Amino acid sequence: MKTIILFYSRSRKTALVANTLAEEVNADILEIMDLNDRKGPLNYLKASVDAFRENKTLIKPETVDLSDYDLVYLGSPTWASKPAPAMITLIDRCDFRGKDVILFATMGSSGGQKVIERMREKVEPRGGRMIKSFQVKTGGKKMEKLVDIVKKIVQEEDLPIYGI
Ligand SMILES: Cc1cc2nc3c(=O)[nH]c(=O)nc-3n(C[C@H](O)[C@H](O)[C@H](O)COP(=O)(O)O)c2cc1C
Repeated sequence: MKTIILFYSRSRKTALVANTLAEEVNADILEIMDLNDRKGPLNYLKASVDAFRENKTLIKPETVDLSDYDLVYLGSPTWASKPAPAMITLIDRCDFRGKDVILFATMGSSGGQKVIERMREKVEPRGGRMIKSFQVKTGGKKMEKLVDIVKKIVQEEDLPIYGI
């Protein structure tokens, strides 16, 4: 089974989770960039509004061809208890027919379950089957600690067996 991890990350925490996962489950990995500026306090507010309203954004790559893959991980930070706009935009453009999907969300403190539910609601009508999901609380955690947490999740959730 060929696996790819698609993720968006503004402040690199979801990126760290995704990169650790890629090593642990031996997957390809691709970062989705949001071409709208999301840095700074004003943009933080706009980012929350965009996420809450599920406004689409400009992403790079514009879409991803998943035809080579059997298993797709999708990872997003939690923004106002919603997936980041880049991830919503991407999901709406992908064909998940016949794909197993594992969803993950990072969050400062809460809202990750809602993010996963919303991604699931978007992925399933596009043909994907969610087989697992997990959340990572990043608030107040050092990067090394996050790596340990991800490695533990990989073991506890038996993630390597899904890519075989
Ligand atoms: C615009 C914005 C909104 C956020 N909203 C939430 C939220 O509703 N709940 C929460 O626990 N964390 C929230 N966070 C924190 C992020 O979800 C958390 O720090 C995440 O791990 C960041 O991932 P990243 O470093 O990959 O961007 C928010 C962060 C931003 C920038």
